[in-house]
Amino acid sequence: MYLIEIKELVKSYGPVNALQGLTLKVPKGSLFGLLGPNGAGKTTTLRILCTLLAPDSGGVTFAGFDALKNPLAARRELGYVAQEVAIDKILTGRELLKLQGDLYHLSSKQRDLRIDELIERLKMHKWIDRRCGSYSGGMRRRIDLASGLLHQPQLLVLDEPTVGLDIESRSSIWELLRELKEDGTTVLLSSHYLEEIEALSDQIAIIDDGRVIAEGTPQQLKEQLGGDRVTLRVQEFSNKNESDLVKGLLESIDGVSQVVVNQAQGFSLNFVVEGENILPDIRTELGRSNFQIFALAQSRPSLDDVYLNATGRTLMDVELEVSSQRDIKLEKKKAMR
Ligand SMILES: Nc1ncnc2c1ncn2[C@@H]1O[C@H](COP(=O)(O)OP(=O)(O)O)[C@@H](O)[C@H]1O
Ligand SMILES: [Mg+2]
Repeated sequence: MYLIEIKELVKSYGPVNALQGLTLKVPKGSLFGLLGPNGAGKTTTLRILCTLLAPDSGGVTFAGFDALKNPLAARRELGYVAQEVAIDKILTGRELLKLQGDLYHLSSKQRDLRIDELIERLKMHKWIDRRCGSYSGGMRRRIDLASGLLHQPQLLVLDEPTVGLDIESRSSIWELLRELKEDGTTVLLSSHYLEEIEALSDQIAIIDDGRVIAEGTPQQLKEQLGGDRVTLRVQEFSNKNESDLVKGLLESIDGVSQVVVNQAQGFSLNFVVEGENILPDIRTELGRSNFQIFALAQSRPSLDDVYLNATGRTLMDVELEVSSQRDIKLEKKKAMR
């Protein structure tokens, strides 16, 4: 049974087509992970689902009712933990949670009971009565989480819940999300961290360029890919012809398939091998054509391979692209001054 059905969402910000027909179904009781690089459309999707942003077209059904037509009803059923929150610095954590409880129209008794429960659960007692201004990133995230959970929603939506956190805070948030799922809450989180999605999710959708490009359990996604993944680096390609030549050589070997020349890092190739002892054949074949192998690594398919297979890029490549575009923009700004 699905708690949420998102259908054909389209959303543009001026010339930017952030969502281009995104469709997604979230089973009730799942810990559902949206994986995608920065700019893929995760935040836009989650904000639309939480009725904080209107799509250009498409629909969202929440437990059978139209969430976009009944935003108040939808908000009662869900808690949203945003990617970046500006929390008040003067108030204490407890005061902030009380304020939040009042927004949800909890009675003051209900509210205070629930706050005590969450303080216990999220281990916040040591610092909850200190001003938020003095909180670390991990503490703030826990306050955000508690705010999202105050009204005991059926669905908790978290946008990049552990960005910028230290390892310890990260793992305590992971633990909490697993507990919530055990208790029957449906959890939907987005992340551009592969390990995070892989560690937590029982259902995954990979988003790229405003669309879902792959969907299923981690196991299903990997099995669809078949054989082992191999990454090959050859000593310095001087031009594209050479990488194409190697691609051709590989494709001629029995058991080798899906050869992709890695676009962002021009020197590496990824492909799939099925069968025994193919790596020695590859070494022989390349050696015969005087290509020196720099590195040859074989592994079981990972989620990154699922992404690579669907888009021709790795998640890491996309991060590099995004950050270099950001650097270029910054340089331009500097130059204009
Ligand atoms: N308020 C906005 N105005 C203009 N463009 C936006 C805005 N919000 C997001 N975008 C653009 O829409 C695309 C999707 O963004 P977003 O949903 O934030 O992706 P993600 O959360 O996966 O990083 C990106 O290209 C982003 O730059
Ligand atoms: Mg985002």
